[in-house]
Amino acid sequence: MKLPACCRTLSAKCLLLACCAALFITEAVHADSAIVSPAPQRVAELRHLLREDCGACHGLTLNGGLGSPLTAAALAGKPGDSLVATLLDGRPGSAMPPWRPFMSEAEAQWLIRQLQQGVTP
Ligand code: HEC
Repeated sequence: MKLPACCRTLSAKCLLLACCAALFITEAVHADSAIVSPAPQRVAELRHLLREDCGACHGLTLNGGLGSPLTAAALAGKPGDSLVATLLDGRPGSAMPPWRPFMSEAEAQWLIRQLQQGVTP
């Protein structure tokens, strides 16, 4: 069957859209799987750190104090990479200290992801 020209371009556009969506989904899944959860013992330690140390500045419910809020809503739309960089290296000129001596990059990525997902201490 031969489709009129207008329909052909329309279906081509749909196909392109579907391909983009599929690509986007695989990318998202890929980005997610790159973040590995630490071993259970380490998860407990990082949660303790979040409560005792981060909570001291960011508030016990992470709604902010001396440090800005770290709730999912507050972090929404902020690029994960730059949040991870702030966590690891601190923010010069502010009270945010560097945590690189206390955690690996993978652990920092995991912790930021936890915060972005709304985990509270
Ligand atoms: C001594 C106080 C202090 C402690 C402890 C602290 N922070 Fe911060 N943090 C700050 C301040 C102040 C800022 C805001 C910096 C600015 O003015 O931009 C900040 C900013 C941040 C940001 C960037 C937020 C944004 O919206 O850009 C993240 C993420 C963060 N802290 C995570 C943590 C985590 C996780 C911990 C615990 C491992 C922690 N902080 C411990 C003071 C602290």
